[in-house]
Amino acid sequence: MTLGKTKAAVLAVVMMLAAAASAEEMKNLQVFPKDTEKGAVIDVMKKWTGALGVNCTHCHVLTVPGDYDSFDFASDEKPEKKTTRGMMRMVQQLNGGMLANATGEADAKVSCVTCHRGLPNPATLDQVMLKTVQKKGADEAVARYHKLHDRYYGRGSYDFGPDSLMPAIEKLAQGDDADLDAALALAQLAAEEHPDNAGNQVLVAHLLLKKGDKSGATAAVDKALELDPQNRRALRLKQQLGQ
Ligand code: HEC
Ligand code: HEC
Repeated sequence: MTLGKTKAAVLAVVMMLAAAASAEEMKNLQVFPKDTEKGAVIDVMKKWTGALGVNCTHCHVLTVPGDYDSFDFASDEKPEKKTTRGMMRMVQQLNGGMLANATGEADAKVSCVTCHRGLPNPATLDQVMLKTVQKKGADEAVARYHKLHDRYYGRGSYDFGPDSLMPAIEKLAQGDDADLDAALALAQLAAEEHPDNAGNQVLVAHLLLKKGDKSGATAAVDKALELDPQNRRALRLKQQLGQ
């Protein structure tokens, strides 16, 4: 028993020392328990880089640009680091009962990768496109699409299917502040990317008509009917155009 006691005391001292050492190193933990050991912090950090498809520099600053020995991990300079604290709290809340209640599965859990799936920002493709149109214009959005397609096609990070831009196109085509040119650019992009899909041609035709380009609309609807002679929306529009 005495030996056990001694062992326990030694262990306590070792733990105190470790805590002191880690407190010295870990200067700015606000969501993790303050006394989390460096090794445990780094293990989580490595998981995050994989879950988001990024490097440590996504959230942490280098004090000397380009010098990977000059990280200031305690600094909160990068907005991504601050956003991440919100994400950590959100995950804690979801895993602290909300998800178990919602599913009836006591062990239901989310982690970063559940939503992020290798992306720094897990917004859907139509959300990315809409935001890019609004911030940088339709040309940039189309360029962004091609870049994302090159990088992520086949990886399940984004839906590059024929209908996936529809919500963004509809949003851009509606309302007082509609941006018909941007809606048309995205519809034409979808039509080009999916040359066998009649639906996108019909969409292009509708948008051209809305812009007052009747001959363009007719050409697009004819193309849609070539692809799918029974397409109801195309037939209806063709009739409308003939009047
Ligand atoms: C997605 C953002 C993100 C990525 C990527 C990331 N970190 Fe962090 N890191 C954080 C956040 C947020 C904290 C603070 C957590 C808290 O407040 O509890 C942190 C804290 C740390 C700390 C503790 C600093 C201190 O003294 O308080 C270290 C060390 C660290 N990260 C190292 C790394 C390393 C190494 C990598 C790459 C393998 C990395 N991080 C990648 C967001 C990130
Ligand atoms: C329930 C889903 C979900 C989980 C779980 C989740 N995130 Fe997020 N995260 C999102 C969404 C959605 C956005 C993008 C919001 C937007 O900009 O539209 C986001 C944005 C972010 C951003 C900012 C991206 C940017 O471009 O500004 C960071 C950084 C981030 N998450 C890190 C994390 C980390 C690290 C974890 C795990 C601790 C995590 N997230 C867990 C859904 C999630």
